[in-house]
Amino acid sequence: MKSQKNKNIYTLAIDTSCDDTAVAILKNDRVLANIVSSQIDIHKEWGGVVPNLAKREHQKMIDGCIALALKRSGLKGISKIDVFAVTHGPGLAPALEVGVAKVKELALENDRPLIAVNHMEGHALSVFLKNKFGKYYSGLKRYSEKHDFPFLALCISGGHTEIVLVEDFGKYKIIGQTLDDAAGEAFDKIARMLGLGYPGGAVISKFAEGKNKNTYALPRPMQHSKDLDFSFSGLKTACLYQTNDLKKQLSEKDFAKIIPDYCASVQEAIIDSLIGKTIKAVKKIQPKMLVTGGGVIANKPLRARLRKEMKSLKIPVYFPASQFCQDNAAMIGLVAYMKYLRKETVEDIPALQRKPSITIEA
Ligand code: KG4
Ligand code: ZN
Repeated sequence: MKSQKNKNIYTLAIDTSCDDTAVAILKNDRVLANIVSSQIDIHKEWGGVVPNLAKREHQKMIDGCIALALKRSGLKGISKIDVFAVTHGPGLAPALEVGVAKVKELALENDRPLIAVNHMEGHALSVFLKNKFGKYYSGLKRYSEKHDFPFLALCISGGHTEIVLVEDFGKYKIIGQTLDDAAGEAFDKIARMLGLGYPGGAVISKFAEGKNKNTYALPRPMQHSKDLDFSFSGLKTACLYQTNDLKKQLSEKDFAKIIPDYCASVQEAIIDSLIGKTIKAVKKIQPKMLVTGGGVIANKPLRARLRKEMKSLKIPVYFPASQFCQDNAAMIGLVAYMKYLRKETVEDIPALQRKPSITIEA
């Protein structure tokens, strides 16, 4: 018989923090199934995520996603799951509620432990996910608790823009963050302004491909401040004025023609802002490595700049595979596995509540 220490742990994790219904199954830190049901088609009609619509869609999709994850995992039924995990925050309260309620039901019905996970910890550690053969998706060669701490995690999503000092797994300090909009939010709001739809990051970067990023002068707020914080609302306002001016000057057809160069200029301004403070943080902390996570990290020019800058600073940098940049439950399952090994399970399962505003330091 395997000793308790060497026993494989099967985790079923759920994330319903925003507009993706996500369920994953892991064997230890290895992903066996990763299901994401996107609600983009519904929310794009409204130009952004509508919390109560998100809740309704999560309720509709959650059981199907769980069934599909179990099927894809190859496990023979839910009784094989050792641990249930859920994102309890941060996120949209009505959306979080669905995952939390479902996981409580599953843990109690199956008499298994429950782990509550912080969504941002999931993004921060997503480079540590392995495939079913035990290889890191991110290309990470090895990490050892002794040698690779402290490291920095650059987490950039639709709701957060943070530089996190990781002193150990489970020990985090936010050393820089946005004072207003998140970088993903800036992409989304500017895309909406330009009439390009939602979500904006992927659309803007598609338009920007191969275009002239120096065509429009846009601000890079706080680049010269000594702290490690970001600000994107000034860029958003500058874009609003410039867009209004351009619309006054140009016909609808000519405005459409300038969109690609405009997108390239917007993308470059956001990348410059992110890179400037990341370099400052790396020089200050001298971390063993830089890991990245969150939807905006899917951006290829941003990855290229980070690679180039970290190479010159001689700091290894790692990126999650693209399916783990966007919201997913595999990253939640991974954090849950780590917490399970540290025995950080929820004591009073019925009392577990969503925590929409929790930070990674909590
Ligand atoms: O991590 P995520 O899926 O959800 C949150 O936790 O917020 O991030 C979503 C954000 C959106 O703002 C979206 O516009 C942005 O990620 N995004 C991108 C790209 N793909 C998604 N931003 C820039 N470039 C992309 N390729
Ligand atoms: Zn996220």
